[in-house]
Amino acid sequence: MGDVRGGKTALVTGITGQDGSYLAELLLAKGYRVVGVVRRSSTTPYERIAHLVDRIELLSADLLDQTSLVDAMAEVHPDEIYNLAAQSFVATSWNQPVLTGEFTGLGVTRMLEAMRRVVPKARFYQASSSEQFGMVQETPQRESTPFYPRSPYGVAKVYAHWITVNYRESFGLYAVSGILFNHESPRRGLEFVTRKVTDAVARIKLGQANELRLGNLDARRDWGFAGDYVDAMWRMLQQETPGDYVIGTGETWTVRQLCEEAFGYVGLDWRAHVVTDPRFARPAEVELLVADPSKAKRALGWEPTVRFRQLVRMMVDADLARHRMHVPSPA
Ligand code: NAP
Ligand code: GDD
Repeated sequence: MGDVRGGKTALVTGITGQDGSYLAELLLAKGYRVVGVVRRSSTTPYERIAHLVDRIELLSADLLDQTSLVDAMAEVHPDEIYNLAAQSFVATSWNQPVLTGEFTGLGVTRMLEAMRRVVPKARFYQASSSEQFGMVQETPQRESTPFYPRSPYGVAKVYAHWITVNYRESFGLYAVSGILFNHESPRRGLEFVTRKVTDAVARIKLGQANELRLGNLDARRDWGFAGDYVDAMWRMLQQETPGDYVIGTGETWTVRQLCEEAFGYVGLDWRAHVVTDPRFARPAEVELLVADPSKAKRALGWEPTVRFRQLVRMMVDADLARHRMHVPSPA
C-alpha cells in the first residue's frame, strides 16, 4: 500500500534520534507519509519527535531482528528508506564492540535484505560517516579517499558502507551512502562533545556548575548543522542514478576552539572551567576531519547554510533557555 494521500512514503529507522527528528520534519513539509521505526523499550524515548507524533506513524522493529524488518517493509511498502539507526557513539563502541558491529554493521545487511526481498524498487539511504576516514589518508577527505577506521564504530560503518555499495552493484538496488561529517544541533545527544560543551556553558553561566571535564582538546572536526544534512540525504535519493556523496562544510575546528567560542559567547573564559581528564580520551583518536563537499555541491546543489559560530551560538542559546526553565534535556 503506497501513500493514501498520493505522495511518497518514507520509512525512517532511527527516527527518535537527532537526524531522524529533523528528517521527519523535512519529509512532512514535502508532503510525505512518514513511518518511523522504533525499537521496543520500557520507556518511550520520543522527546525529539514529541511535536511530530500526531503527524507520523510509528512501527516497532529492531535492526537486530530480520523478521521485524521484513514485516516493516511489507506493511509500509515505502518508496524511500532512510537507515539512520545505529549505535552512534564512538566511545561506547570500544566498550560494546560486538553490539556496535551488530547494530551499525550487520543491521544494514538486514535492512538491505528486507528491501531486496520485499520492495526492491524502493530507494535506500545509508548513514555513512566521516569516521570511516579515521587516520586520514588525504586532506580534505572526498568520496575517493581510502578508508582507515580507528574504532569499532568506524569499522562497522565501513562494512555498512561497502555492503550498501555491493547490494547496489550486485542486485541493481537504488542504494546510496551519504558520508556525513559531524553534524550537531540543540537536539544532539549530551554525550557528544559539542552538546557536552554547550550544556556545560549554560549551566556554568547560570551558576549551576563550575567545571567541565573533557578529553583531547586538539582533535579537529568539520562541524555542521543537522538540519542542513538531512536535506542532503533527501537530495541523494532524488537523483537519476544512485551514488555516494561526502557532506560537510569544508572547515575544521579544534575542540579547544569550540570551547573558546562557546564560553566566549556568554562572556566566560573557558580556561577557568575546562579540565582535561584522561577518562574522556580514546584508545585511538581521529585527529583531523575536514570535508571536500564539492561533488555534493555540483551534483545535488547542496550547500551548508549554518557555519560553525552560528551553530555553537544556536546550541548555547537553546541550552541556556532550557536550563533557565529547568526543562529536562531532550537527549
Ligand atoms: P542518534 O541521535 O544516536 O540516533 C540513533 C538512532 O538509532 C536512535 O533513534 C536509536 O533509537 C536508533 N537505534 C539504535 N539502535 C537501534 C536498533 N537496534 N534498532 C532500531 N533502532 C535503533 O544518531 P544521529 O546523530 O541522529 O545519527 C543518525 C545516523 O547517522 C547514525 O547511523 C549515525 O551513526 C550516523 N552519522 C551521524 C553523524 C553525526 O554527526 N550526527 C555523522 C555521520 C553519520 P533509540 O532512541 O531507541 O536509542
Ligand atoms: N564525546 C566527547 N566527550 N568527545 C570529546 C571529549 C569529551 O569529553 N573531549 C574531547 N573529545 C573529542 C573526541 O575525542 C573526538 O575527537 C571529538 O571530540 C568529537 O567527539 P564526538 O562529539 O563524540 O563525535 P565523534 O567525532 O567521535 O563522532 C560523531 O561524528 C561522527 C562523524 O564523524 C558521531 O556523531 C558519530 O556517530 C559520527 O559518525
